[in-house]
Amino acid sequence: MSGTSGARLKPYLAELKAGQAYAWCACGRSRRQPFCDGSHAGSGIEPVRFTVPGDREALLCGCKRTGDAPFCDGTHNSLADRYAAADAGEIGASAHIRPTPRGGGRTGKSRLDGGCFVSTVNTAALEKHGTTRLGPVIGAADGARCLSLWYMVAEPGRSGVLSFPGSDTVLFLPAGEVQVNISGRDFRAVSECGIFVRAGEAFRINNEGTTPLIMLLTVCPRKDAPQWLESMPRAFDAAIPGRVFGVDHSRREPMADRFYQVLNGAENGSREITQFIGELPRSRAAAHRHLYEEAIMILGGAGFLWTETAHASVGPGDILFLPCKQVHSLECTSDGGMRLVGAFYPSGSPAINY
Ligand code: FES
Repeated sequence: MSGTSGARLKPYLAELKAGQAYAWCACGRSRRQPFCDGSHAGSGIEPVRFTVPGDREALLCGCKRTGDAPFCDGTHNSLADRYAAADAGEIGASAHIRPTPRGGGRTGKSRLDGGCFVSTVNTAALEKHGTTRLGPVIGAADGARCLSLWYMVAEPGRSGVLSFPGSDTVLFLPAGEVQVNISGRDFRAVSECGIFVRAGEAFRINNEGTTPLIMLLTVCPRKDAPQWLESMPRAFDAAIPGRVFGVDHSRREPMADRFYQVLNGAENGSREITQFIGELPRSRAAAHRHLYEEAIMILGGAGFLWTETAHASVGPGDILFLPCKQVHSLECTSDGGMRLVGAFYPSGSPAINY
């Protein structure tokens, strides 16, 4: 798509109807963006004609530089040196908003607009099961429709056998080293690894160290209760032999002055959930939305999560819930930047926003 003028540096949300013929403007000249109005005549650039098999919402590329025409693939984020930042108007309009404090209870939550929240997990309130303590941080009670997030503290020793029947589970180990058995196969994971457990499988954690380990479990479709099994089902899906994915700088994807790396995604066999690790510099992103539902844990750095009329402080260990289409922006106030891990449904690219 190089050489086109480009309509704008973000995609267009479109409601597409099954079987209807569409022509996406590839030249950037159309006044009926993102669709063609015939203005390409003489440009040598033809529109991309397409249909969709079922009714769906989609983000159609507005920058005309996507590698997945007509759909946005996140390329628009890398067309400038800096990721799209909040402008003076956005910052000024929110200057009077006071931070929302954490509430009490199992997970102290700062509730923002549209079901969005920031949570500082109270590990004393997790439910004990053998060597582990486990509790939900994001679930149906929070308005989550697609995924649930579980927080686990694994004391030294072997955990019970855990399953979320019918759901894929991606685990994340923020720090330490652990052995994970997935339906009879042993894997070793170290700090900042993602671990994939397919629907129909079960797993147990073996913490061979002397101190407790924290693990995050993202479950999709959402499950609001775990199942502890008497024995390990020998149901390992050998079609997906690799299950542990760590940080690999050669697989980093730049987004202007930011980076992300997918840990678990479609290419690793995770078709429901995408799990990624990302870094951002001191900055405040322009308000934006995603078509996916997302859970984030802050690994390092501090700042604020903003929504339309509220904001809350965020810091290491905090959990953020972003419902589908909720307007938000993350601000990093640390000179050393912010590091985070996220997981979202439906699976895709973390660079796609609108
Ligand atoms: S708007 Fe073109 S890739 Fe996103």
